[in-house]
Amino acid sequence: MLGLGLIGRIAAEVRRDVAAARSRDPAARDVGRLEILATWPGVHALLAHRIAHALHEIGVPFLPRVIAAASRAVTGIEIHPAAKIGQGFFIDHGMGVVIGETVELGDDVTLYQGVTLGGTGFATGKRHPTVQDNVTIGSGAKLLGPITVGHGSKIGANSVVIHDVPPNSTVVGNPGHPVRVEGRRPEGPDADWVHLPDPIADAIKSLATRISGLEQSVVDEAPGPGNVRPLRPAEIQDAPDGTTRINRNVGPNPAGG
Ligand SMILES: CC(C)(COP(=O)(O)OP(=O)(O)OC[C@H]1O[C@@H](n2cnc3c(N)ncnc32)[C@H](O)[C@@H]1OP(=O)(O)O)[C@@H](O)C(=O)NCCC(=O)NCCS
Repeated sequence: MLGLGLIGRIAAEVRRDVAAARSRDPAARDVGRLEILATWPGVHALLAHRIAHALHEIGVPFLPRVIAAASRAVTGIEIHPAAKIGQGFFIDHGMGVVIGETVELGDDVTLYQGVTLGGTGFATGKRHPTVQDNVTIGSGAKLLGPITVGHGSKIGANSVVIHDVPPNSTVVGNPGHPVRVEGRRPEGPDADWVHLPDPIADAIKSLATRISGLEQSVVDEAPGPGNVRPLRPAEIQDAPDGTTRINRNVGPNPAGG
């Protein structure tokens, strides 16, 4: 079962997790280690996961899932017991975080609340993201599928990422796209995702211009006091060749002309 070596390993991991909370959460700077251990939900979830994962690794049935479910009920953070999580992991606030079965996290990764590291469907095997060292994932971000997030990268809050992320880059938006790579804006024709041409908006704009032009010409053509078109009765004549002729503008002008 749980040997002394394993317990020592879990204790070391938890010590480093608490230190990570202290260094990366501005609200924890002046808070003692014991208080963080007692009151930080992200730390509770990790402590539970370290134990559940150790039990899962040595083949203990049932119990790892019970621990994970209890931890989820208390913290709102769901971590599958099989997920591999490196050292110095920190979940800030935590509620709504989901970490799937085949997730692999490197060292010193930070997640905010509402992050999903999930699969895209019903695929089996490796189907969840791999996140390398020193990655920060903003609140509400969804990372889906067996993608790799390169070390040192940042994922913006509420991004939806379904492709690999290069190292040391910043990815934002839905679909997630790099806005910084190695500190520089990516170059190339497809790099400006914020100001993409919008053909539908352009078509609507040109129709609106045409409609206002037509409206103006209707106003200009409308009969005003000085622009009265006289309506005179027409005269209908039977022509000698058997056809009927209509003579317009005969008779008195109803406008008095
Ligand atoms: C992405 C993030 C990490 C900033 O990374 P950064 O490398 O410092 O990037 P910058 O702030 O220079 O922003 C780069 C570009 O992305 C845009 N951007 C930043 N965050 C964004 C987001 N979440 N969604 C969409 N665009 C975003 C910026 O406006 C900027 O656009 P520009 O290139 O047109 O100027 C940060 O914006 C973020 O989302 N952090 C998550 C924080 C969080 O979840 N906090 C919860 C606390 S409870």
